[in-house]
Amino acid sequence: MKKFTSVQDVPDLPDWLALARKVKAQPFDFQKYGKNKTLGLVFLNPSLRTRLSTQKAAQNLGMQVMVMNMQQDGWAIEMEDGTVMDGGTQEHIREAAGVLSQYCDIIGLRTFPGLKNREEDYAEKVLTKFIQNATVPVLSLESATRHPLQSFADLLTIEEFKGKPRPKVVLTWAPHPRALPQAVPNSFVEWMKNAEVDLSITHPEGWELAPEFGEGVPVHHNQDAALEGADFVYVKNWSAYQDYGRTGQELRSWMITPEKMQLTNQAKLMHCLPVRRNVVVADAVLDSPQSIVLQQASNRTYTAQTVLLKMLGYAG
Ligand code: CP
Repeated sequence: MKKFTSVQDVPDLPDWLALARKVKAQPFDFQKYGKNKTLGLVFLNPSLRTRLSTQKAAQNLGMQVMVMNMQQDGWAIEMEDGTVMDGGTQEHIREAAGVLSQYCDIIGLRTFPGLKNREEDYAEKVLTKFIQNATVPVLSLESATRHPLQSFADLLTIEEFKGKPRPKVVLTWAPHPRALPQAVPNSFVEWMKNAEVDLSITHPEGWELAPEFGEGVPVHHNQDAALEGADFVYVKNWSAYQDYGRTGQELRSWMITPEKMQLTNQAKLMHCLPVRRNVVVADAVLDSPQSIVLQQASNRTYTAQTVLLKMLGYAG
């Protein structure tokens, strides 16, 4: 397996889900696959969950882990080919990816979008160049347009908590003071399209997802109506795709409150975290038994472990 960047890299999702459950039940049973192997984690942006859960996943497999925070500790990376590098950048991505490949058996990369140039972000320039110049398999730790490790954990969590074969899952937009990427909702929708769920999306007009992600999924602009009967509410802010990067922070009425949760079928509340309390979700919801955000975060370890195991060649 040369890369893990989206659900399209997963040949058999039910098989991967079954393995994730097995890994979760016996996390240390697979160490022969990771022994004497090294995982490199390269962060161009901040992280808590992805960094630590992937590190723990690798350690559970007996792998050694090296973490590089490029912004603080690395040289400034040049992405363009043919550039005369007499400005601020000091190391070309060609050498950076090539050198990391000398030290690691698998490399994870986190790279956020700039949210200024939509075409550039949606071309996944940094991730693509990194993969092109690495000689070992590359794992996305969240890229400009997708967060597959998060989505895999989200799917496992829904599978664990669902009370019916095909639960109603509602992805709802919520306000946020800063422009956030569309990676989590894009990816969530992409994975849910491959799962046994009844998915719908609710957001204010103007916050449609990119057509390649939103296509075929019912969209409601009335949040209350959309939440009725939901078994899972996945709340997340994203900045606009059309008016690229627009926040909509003034739309405070879209915050998830106990009153809105009462419209649902006693839904479980999900969020990828970090979450801004009382902006995205009210305290009373996050602190209620309906919230499964910590269980969701816990599953990040086991789904990351499943992905690493497959990348290490596990065929069982
Ligand atoms: N959900 C998630 O990816 O969290 P971090 O940004 O902290 O890694």
